[in-house]
Amino acid sequence: MQTVPGQVSRLILGCGNFGGIGSAPDFFGQGESEDEAFAIMDAAWSIGIRDFDTADAYGGGRSETWIGRWRARTGNEPTLTTKVFHSVEGDPNDRGLARERILRQIGGSLARLGVDQVDMYLIHEPDPHTPIEETLDALEEVVRAGKVRAAGASNVDVAWLEQAGGRVDLVQNSYSLLDRELDDVVVYCAEHGIRFTPFSPLAGGWLAGKYRRHQAPPPGSRMAMRPEPYLHLDDEAVYKGLDRLEAAAKNRGIDMPTLAIAWLLTDPRIKAVVVGPRRPEHLEPARAALDVQLSPEERDELASLFP
Ligand SMILES: NC(=O)c1ccc[n+]([C@@H]2O[C@H](COP(=O)([O-])OP(=O)(O)OC[C@H]3O[C@@H](n4cnc5c(N)ncnc54)[C@H](OP(=O)(O)O)[C@@H]3O)[C@@H](O)[C@H]2O)c1
Repeated sequence: MQTVPGQVSRLILGCGNFGGIGSAPDFFGQGESEDEAFAIMDAAWSIGIRDFDTADAYGGGRSETWIGRWRARTGNEPTLTTKVFHSVEGDPNDRGLARERILRQIGGSLARLGVDQVDMYLIHEPDPHTPIEETLDALEEVVRAGKVRAAGASNVDVAWLEQAGGRVDLVQNSYSLLDRELDDVVVYCAEHGIRFTPFSPLAGGWLAGKYRRHQAPPPGSRMAMRPEPYLHLDDEAVYKGLDRLEAAAKNRGIDMPTLAIAWLLTDPRIKAVVVGPRRPEHLEPARAALDVQLSPEERDELASLFP
C-alpha cells in the first residue's frame, strides 16, 4: 500500500473489532486476535494513520490492552481516543457516567493503554440516570488532572448537545450514506465549532457491497455475528441503492467502499472518519478515498440513492 501524505489525519483507526465486536459482552474474546490487531495497527501506521479510536469496554479491555502493548513494542505514539460508559467486565450493573465511575474508569484506560494521558475522552452514550452536569463536571475534572487532553461525546443528539452547552470539543456519531438520521447533529457541530468524526462509515460493511438480496451473509461477517443494529437495512430499497452505488463506483473506476468513504471525506463539515478494518487490506479503500473528489452536486446525487 502506498503511504499517504499529511491529509491522512482525516482517517482514524477504529479498534472496535479488537478482541470482540465493540462493547458487547457476548463477543469478548472474539473479533480480531492480538496478532491480527497488531497487523492492522502496523498497516495503519505504515500508511500514515496517527489517530486510534478505542473504548474501555471494547473486547472487554482487550482493545486498549493490545494498543498499549503495540505502543510499547513499536515505540509508536498514536493519538488516542477512548470512551466510557459500558462495563469492561461485562457486568450489567457497572455502567454509566456518574462522577466516581468516570474517575475510576479513566484510571483503567490509562493503565491498559500505558499512557499518562489520553488525547480525547468520550462519553460512549448519554446516561439518563446521571445529571448531565455531574458528567460534564467529571470530564472537566479529569482534564484538569491531566489525565485527558479534551472531552467529547458519542451517540448524542442535538438536545443532548444543547444541554451540554458547548462543554464538549468533539462528537462521534454513526453517519454514512446509509445512516443520515442525525444529520442535524452534523449541522449543529459545524455551527458550534465542534469537531465531528463519524463512525461506521460503511454501515457495518453494508456499503462495501458484501450483503446481497436473498443471500445469507458471509460467514464471520458482521451480519452473521451481530446483525441486530443493521436488520432494517435488509430491504429492497436499500439493495436498489447499493446496486446504483456499485454502478456509480464502477463508472469512476473505484470500488464501493472507496466511494462511500469519499462521500464522507468530501463533506466539509466532517473533520475525520473513524474506519473499521478487519484486516490490513481493508484500509486500502479508506486510503484511496482521500484522493476522490466529489462536488456538492455529486454528493447530493449519491445521497439520493438512499432516500
Ligand atoms: N462510538 C460508538 O458507539 C461506536 C460504534 C461503532 C463503532 N465505533 C468505532 O468506529 C469504528 C468503525 O466502525 P465500524 O466497525 O462499524 O465501521 P464500518 O466501516 O461501518 O464497518 C466495519 C465492517 O465493515 C467491513 N469492512 C470494513 N472495511 C471493509 C472493506 N474495505 N471491504 C469490505 N468490508 C469492509 C467489515 O465487516 P465484516 O466484519 O463483516 O468483515 C467490518 O467489520 C470502530 O472500530 C470503532 O472504533 C464507535
